[in-house]
Amino acid sequence: MLADSLLVRAATGHPGPRPPVWFMRQAGRSLPEYRAIRAGNSMLEACRTPELITEITLQPVRRHGVDAAVLFSDIVVPLVAIGVGVEIVGGVGPVIDKPIRTRSDLDVLRDLEPDDVAFLPEAIHALTTELGDTPLIGFAGAPFTLASYLIEGGPSRDYARTKALMHSDPRLWFELLDRLSTIAAAFLRVQVEAGASVVQLFDSWAGALSAADYETYVLPHSQAVLSAVPEVPRIHFGVGTGELLPLMRQAGADVVGVDWRIPLDEAARRLGPGAVVQGNLDPALLLADWPVIEGEVHRVIAEGRAAAGHIFNLGHGVPPDTDPDVLTRIVDLIKTLT
Ligand code: CP3
Repeated sequence: MLADSLLVRAATGHPGPRPPVWFMRQAGRSLPEYRAIRAGNSMLEACRTPELITEITLQPVRRHGVDAAVLFSDIVVPLVAIGVGVEIVGGVGPVIDKPIRTRSDLDVLRDLEPDDVAFLPEAIHALTTELGDTPLIGFAGAPFTLASYLIEGGPSRDYARTKALMHSDPRLWFELLDRLSTIAAAFLRVQVEAGASVVQLFDSWAGALSAADYETYVLPHSQAVLSAVPEVPRIHFGVGTGELLPLMRQAGADVVGVDWRIPLDEAARRLGPGAVVQGNLDPALLLADWPVIEGEVHRVIAEGRAAAGHIFNLGHGVPPDTDPDVLTRIVDLIKTLT
């Protein structure tokens, strides 16, 4: 049943009559029903409460009729689950109590055991029952993006400490990425074993790296994570990764996510024959007038035809101030394109 879904078909290079559509960050502050249910609980509490995970994951599916659900969680959830001091600060992002800078700081990064995230299978079982033939996308943060938060202590503009550590102490870097790969792989395995039918590896900030650094210091670790879940299609995404696309495919992804900076036909050319792409409406344009958005949706879909498959999405997440009716209208438009 799920193998026949538009999402799995496109992801495996056997596209259906139209591209499937979902939105990164489709669950979240753009939805009034999300803001209502989140009142009075912290982001990380919500991410560990099965009833809230289930309800928040379903909200955008009910409202927009998207072709996939994406598990409500966060890339730092597995770190919190093993006891790393992390808080998600509104308007900022993850903030780390004690950033990782030396070898002894690595001690906090023990392996993730399924029991550490027992709330996930519980939520995923409820979700797959509710979702029926709509696939559920699981996800994890890639080792580089997780390392950048752990080393910088929070969001960063230039990733200076991360790059400095990578080059100055490659042994420590590789050990850190090794541990994060093991954690991310275990986090994905729990989700796939519980019923996620597709996974996405978010290496959101990998675009800060040169291709040479990406290949040496990052690719082998992301490859290790992706190879842990061979039984489902794997999407590999980052922002500003135009120069890294072939390497991101080489890491073992079935689908490569593309931001808005390069057109999908150019992305397909860079990725090479048989590649499947995901993207890439500029999220900023969700604030534009409808005729602009409509034109862009048509352009993205036309350019996506150059690839062996295309999953329609934004080039990054839904901004919190998005009018959710615009997202519904985009879904409705794409559904007319059979
Ligand atoms: O896509 C979805 O609907 C699923 C939910 C999802 C969240 N985080 C929920 C969330 C996903 C896929 C993530 C992944 C994530 N988290 C990434 C990779 C994706 C990307 O955007 O590149 C990153 C870098 C993070 C770290 C993180 N967590 C950031 C940067 C923020 C935003 C901080 C802010 O307030 O703007 C978070 C918090 C977060 N994660 C929110 C949600 C819905 C907002 C928290 C809130 O509701 O207050």
